[in-house]
Amino acid sequence: MRIDILTLFPDMFDGPFRESILKRAVEKGLVEIYLHNIRDYSNDKHNRVDDYPYGGGAGMVMQIEPIAAVINKLRGERDYSEIIYMSPDGERLNQPIVNKLSLCGNIIILCGHYKGVDQRIRDHYITKEISIGDYVLTGGELAAAVVVDSVVRLIPGVISDETSALTDSFQDNLLSPPVYTRPAEFNGWKVPDILLSGHQANIDKWREDMAFKRTRLLRPDLLGGDRE
Ligand code: ADE
Repeated sequence: MRIDILTLFPDMFDGPFRESILKRAVEKGLVEIYLHNIRDYSNDKHNRVDDYPYGGGAGMVMQIEPIAAVINKLRGERDYSEIIYMSPDGERLNQPIVNKLSLCGNIIILCGHYKGVDQRIRDHYITKEISIGDYVLTGGELAAAVVVDSVVRLIPGVISDETSALTDSFQDNLLSPPVYTRPAEFNGWKVPDILLSGHQANIDKWREDMAFKRTRLLRPDLLGGDRE
């Protein structure tokens, strides 16, 4: 899988992509991630990439030309399954969307800034708009990092324990059951006896019951109920 990220702030991805599982996935060649600075595609003599909105109003709008230039260059080199725009008014990210994206060949992710991008980009280039929640970030970069992280960890070979991605919270519309590790007792707080019993069928049943209980308590909407 290849992911091309179009951004005005490529350095913002240094942290998330240079550490831990994402870093190893790139090193192992399981995913290729390329950062493109939109400013490099500006034809303006001051490298401007934004301008005042037609009709007036506060804030600046990212111009169509530099973004179109990067997208056209990339599309000329290979096919892309999706061209995604990160935006608070996009479809809310959830596990089914992540699962689907992890099956894509190549994707482009466009990060917006200021008041957003010229609508013609969204109308003519973007195939999917994604929000990571009902709040507004300073730009799409952190949201794009969330998408990349959630998608890349599903690529086979990225997470060493292959079953672990499948037993994540949300994969079956249930939250995960609680987990414990050594010591079996700390400060008088004990690990539930059943997990130490060695009886796998009972443990599996307990985990399933706890997953339902937690979901009913914390996210009843996942079970078809109302969210408070
Ligand atoms: N850009 C700014 N806010 C955002 C959000 N909530 N989700 C995705 N992209 C964004």
